[in-house]
Amino acid sequence: MLKTAHGNSYFAHGIFQLNDANQAMNEDQTRPEDFEMNALNRVRAYHHRTKHGFGRYAASPDFMDWETQPDPFRRFAGAPQHTLTLAADKLDVLYADLFAPEGIVPNPLGKQSVGILLELSFGLAAWKQYGGDRWALRCNPSSGNLHPTEAYVITAGVAGLGNGVYHYATHDHALELRCRFEPPFHGLLVGLSSIHWREAWKYGERAFRYCQHDIGHGLGALRYAAAVLGWRVRLLDAWGDADIAALLGLDRQADFIGAETEAADLLCLIETGINGCEEPDIDGIVDAARIGAWTGKANTLSQKHTSDWPAIDEASEASRKPRTSDTRPFDERLSSTALPPLAPILCELPAPELIKQRRSAQAFDGATAIPAKTLYRILDSTLPRTNALPFDLWNWPPRVHPVLFVHRVVGLPPGVYIFCRSAEAESALRAAMKKEFLWESCEACPSHLRFFRLLRVNAQQAAATLSCQQAIAGDSAFSLGMLAEFESGLGEGPWVYRRLFWECGLVGQTLYLEAEAAGVRGTGIGCFFDDPVHELLGLADTAFQSLYHFTVGSAMVDDRLQTLPGYWHLGSQ
Ligand SMILES: Cc1cc2nc3c(=O)[nH]c(=O)nc-3n(C[C@H](O)[C@H](O)[C@H](O)COP(=O)(O)O)c2cc1C
Repeated sequence: MLKTAHGNSYFAHGIFQLNDANQAMNEDQTRPEDFEMNALNRVRAYHHRTKHGFGRYAASPDFMDWETQPDPFRRFAGAPQHTLTLAADKLDVLYADLFAPEGIVPNPLGKQSVGILLELSFGLAAWKQYGGDRWALRCNPSSGNLHPTEAYVITAGVAGLGNGVYHYATHDHALELRCRFEPPFHGLLVGLSSIHWREAWKYGERAFRYCQHDIGHGLGALRYAAAVLGWRVRLLDAWGDADIAALLGLDRQADFIGAETEAADLLCLIETGINGCEEPDIDGIVDAARIGAWTGKANTLSQKHTSDWPAIDEASEASRKPRTSDTRPFDERLSSTALPPLAPILCELPAPELIKQRRSAQAFDGATAIPAKTLYRILDSTLPRTNALPFDLWNWPPRVHPVLFVHRVVGLPPGVYIFCRSAEAESALRAAMKKEFLWESCEACPSHLRFFRLLRVNAQQAAATLSCQQAIAGDSAFSLGMLAEFESGLGEGPWVYRRLFWECGLVGQTLYLEAEAAGVRGTGIGCFFDDPVHELLGLADTAFQSLYHFTVGSAMVDDRLQTLPGYWHLGSQ
């Protein structure tokens, strides 16, 4: 029987049981291909057991145990702190400038610009206050506002900052020096990790999915923040999770005694110069960090854990990424033909302001319609272009394809639509979905967008019902489910499971900012009924799986809430 780290044999009780042969395997003695197959089955089992369905939700706590609510801010006691300045608002860059072909003159790399990068990606954007309660909101969104994502920077030759590994302390807008070392490299790296417990505390087993969505959102937030500085972001996808953990110090057990651990997710090179910069040699920089001078002990986020949700440890373990040699350049991976430039956006807001004002909606007005051309621009901005953010950092062809529930779009009849982000996906989806779907071309749709009407229908009730009965999916201008190429993705390796969610998060972050730029508002929806979505579309197998929902519309603002600036507590207005 397969044992979890906690000694439970939970698969025996799951809705999807592993076959006996896999359960009996001793992983230490299996061949690599068997090991991978075992890991794949575990990933699949996790995915299926964490589906919500009508009348059955994935396992989660029976009640909210406020006594064990995790501290939203990680700190490393004893690590020297370097306060950063809050200078993003001084940058004279419009959101529209981020897409201008002439680009933005790159800011010099130094302590101030690193501070701006973090302020606009993982920094606090606002506090909300109601009665005696006050809570912080960040530039990056997070399921339940629980923020499992932690950010680190590795600096080498950055003016004003010594070389080292730093943890970003969001609450204080400060860097905590975790390791002083001499990296064999020059430039800036950003690493992201997840504290699964933060999400699991509220959402139980499904929380691992939400942590991955949040990483995708965080990656997007980083890309937009870098663009404001005239920088680019390169996702270093050859790195294995163990390499990243070693560089960020996440595998230093002695620094996490009594504290919730962090799972390594990704590492990015920040290209701050016009000609890009060299990637660090993995072994060289990891070995240098290992012998560096480490400081700091992680804080305990919850004094006790009512359940540690072993299914999450299993999924995390099974989807761990090994080091790979594959770092093909972006262009080669795209099978799509060259795309025309993005349509210009009519938004005069400064980019820092727009990034900080991005919020999720609590409710939509159920009335406001957006023009079809706004919808087309929003969808177009999720396509990969080598010269346009944010998908210029994504090293894979698009594997996530939105199915839209159009409710209020001027020029488009209400109905169910699909946006295929690649030609290959269009053929596969045409073959996989219900035969009676229309696949009609849409009014005034740019010819390069593979956007089709499947059904003419009022889908407001269906959209809300499928999104766990949440009215925000029906009262909006449109909502959508993201269909991921699930089986072919997993065929490349179990770790691709996490990347499918990251891609959903990256699409989601794009929708959030584009909605804000269009004068409306977006909201991520992690709670939806998985298989009922597939049934509606006639998807009979697991080739495609809906991994994330999203909704865009005109938000109703709750006047009872008071809003304060993100760093008012530091004396900043
Ligand atoms: C992965 C993910 C899933 C989410 N799921 C839901 C959801 O099901 N329902 C909802 O109302 N909001 C959802 N949200 C929105 C969050 O509640 C919101 O991001 C959080 O409260 C922080 O607020 P902000 O986005 O305004 O910063 C989700 C956000 C993310 C990133």
